[in-house]
Amino acid sequence: KNISLNIDKVAGFASKETIAAYEPQVKACMETLENGTGKGNDFLGWLHLPSSITAEHLADLKATAQVLRDNCEVVVVAGIGGSYLGARAVIEALSNSFQWLKAKQDGPVIVFAGHNIGEDYLFELTEYLKGKKFGVINISKSGTTTETALAFRLLKKQCEDQLGKEMAKKVIVAVTDAKKGAARVTADKEGYQTFIIPDNVGGRFSVLTPVGLLPIAVAGFDIEKLVEGARTMETVCGPATPFAENPAAVYAATRNELYKNGKKIEILVNFNPKLHYMNEWWKQLYGESEGKDGKGIYPSAVDFSTDLHSMGQWIQEGERTIFETVISIEKPEHTLQVPSDSENLDGLNFLAGKRVDEVNKMAELGTQLAHVDGGVPNMRLIVPELNEYYLGEIIYFFEKACGISGYLLGVNPFNQPGVEAYKKNMFALLNKPGYEEESKAIQARL
Ligand code: PA5
Repeated sequence: KNISLNIDKVAGFASKETIAAYEPQVKACMETLENGTGKGNDFLGWLHLPSSITAEHLADLKATAQVLRDNCEVVVVAGIGGSYLGARAVIEALSNSFQWLKAKQDGPVIVFAGHNIGEDYLFELTEYLKGKKFGVINISKSGTTTETALAFRLLKKQCEDQLGKEMAKKVIVAVTDAKKGAARVTADKEGYQTFIIPDNVGGRFSVLTPVGLLPIAVAGFDIEKLVEGARTMETVCGPATPFAENPAAVYAATRNELYKNGKKIEILVNFNPKLHYMNEWWKQLYGESEGKDGKGIYPSAVDFSTDLHSMGQWIQEGERTIFETVISIEKPEHTLQVPSDSENLDGLNFLAGKRVDEVNKMAELGTQLAHVDGGVPNMRLIVPELNEYYLGEIIYFFEKACGISGYLLGVNPFNQPGVEAYKKNMFALLNKPGYEEESKAIQARL
């Protein structure tokens, strides 16, 4: 059984026939990806990545992960954007929700840094790490991203001060470019263990490289299963699968048709709080890939039921420019029944004996029907269980659909020129050497 996409509840907004008519266009986009003849074709390393990952590579990653697991109470994963969100999405999806509060941990506590420049965040992190045996995974493809480099400077110093230079070398690992960037220079000079991010895999498509695999393995999760799931989807979403059976093809076609019909905002929905960071990963994947040249569906996300009591109002009755894609997990990992109560003061005895998930599923179904009635097309990605294997399937499915969808839209899904504008201004404002002209120009504007 694999993940599957159900688009029945899109019917009133885009007909099955219209979506099926995308077949030739989608086929052409898939061929463009396969043949590497489209825009951004130097960043297609993700396309056949799952099937190219070797058992030796996974064993290397696991061996390094074990060193960190054996020597660290805490591991800080430093990275931003594509060098951060995939690992966090998978780790949070698989972790016990209260893991970090448990007195006895089953491995190092994983914390994240380098994805913000909050002074309080970094101060509180350094406070938390005081006196602890901690390691760092410094992840940056360019090796020069300011947010990550700044956090790493603080962490490296603290690690060396607390553990000594020799031990620090053992518990600091760099995931970066083979040759370029300051992170590479530092790693080579200090003699850190390193893993390479392939040149042809862009940040937001890099979760199945060491960028994601190493932190996920350090957190104690099965990276073989994750890759296996992705590998399955590489075939299922591949060119040999007929259009109607290829979930990536159908998803890409459906969302583009909805977009054409004025549905400019896609909301990714979950009914399981563990998927919160999956939402974040997906937002980056689609936002950075498609939002350019004055076009692109705006990717937003909600956690239900939580957000039914806030954004639910907007979704039900606000401007009708939205559609929803729900990640629906069929089977929870645990069983919990609603107890019966002889006094029934809360009036909930009608639920007694039911599983909590049954209530959740009725919330999901009720929400779907209400939102469709309210004018919101609804797709469902049905996931049998939340485990490494299916997360691997979800990841590759969304990546493949993103490549197809970006080409359907006519943009280069693999660049992100718009991310540079803020950096240029920030460097100019901070008087970074090399930005003298920009500094003068920006000062004149203030
Ligand atoms: O998807 C992308 O390319 C970006 O989000 C990058 O991953 C992010 O900017 C971090 O870049 P780097 O890994 O070079 O530090």
